[in-house]
Amino acid sequence: MPGPRSGRHWPGRPRSATGKHRRCDVRAGLPPERLILRNSRQWICSRATGRALEVAVGTGLNLRHYPDDVALTALDLDQELLSIARERAEVSRQVSLVRADAAHLPFPTGSFDTVVCTLAMCEFRDRGAVLAEMNRVLRPQGRLLLLDHAQWRWILHGRPATLLFDAGFVPYRQERLWFGLIQRLEARRPT
Ligand SMILES: C[S@@+](CC[C@H](N)C(=O)[O-])C[C@H]1O[C@@H](n2cnc3c(N)ncnc32)[C@H](O)[C@@H]1O
Repeated sequence: MPGPRSGRHWPGRPRSATGKHRRCDVRAGLPPERLILRNSRQWICSRATGRALEVAVGTGLNLRHYPDDVALTALDLDQELLSIARERAEVSRQVSLVRADAAHLPFPTGSFDTVVCTLAMCEFRDRGAVLAEMNRVLRPQGRLLLLDHAQWRWILHGRPATLLFDAGFVPYRQERLWFGLIQRLEARRPT
């Protein structure tokens, strides 16, 4: 009998799938993504350590990829997507789910060791404010793990590594898939 974290036991679609959920997962979760993103969700989440915050968790597609010893908090602006993430969490792991705006994180300065954000930068109206908040809630030397995909704003505002650099992070590992259309990045908050 497979355990709750095994592929067979894992529900691809939770019970309360809605139109909004489907739209979110089509962009960020169903079989085409396995071809496009390959192992990017595992790549990102397996690097999380200690107290971790996932920003814009959506329907919780990353939850099963975190190591067991990570103390995970995850937030999203959308209550409906959060309740789907809550269903996923029931079969995957303990997580504190919070409804909040990524541009105004309701956490004290320096309260996380890791911040994770996947496929959501394109959704943020004020990416500078979100990155500044991520920087604030990370402890010195804390790590930001970012998965991003190509978007028209890269042309205007620069690629993710440039944005991170501008926001005060020090990017130190970058992997590109599909000729750079998908990027996964690891950056550190300086002391
Ligand atoms: C394309 S989905 C990605 C979800 C998830 N990170 C993933 O990889 O499957 C983008 C998410 O960003 C969330 N979002 C957009 N703006 C936000 C904000 N200002 N604060 C928090 N979440 C936000 C949306 O509600 C949505 O869940």
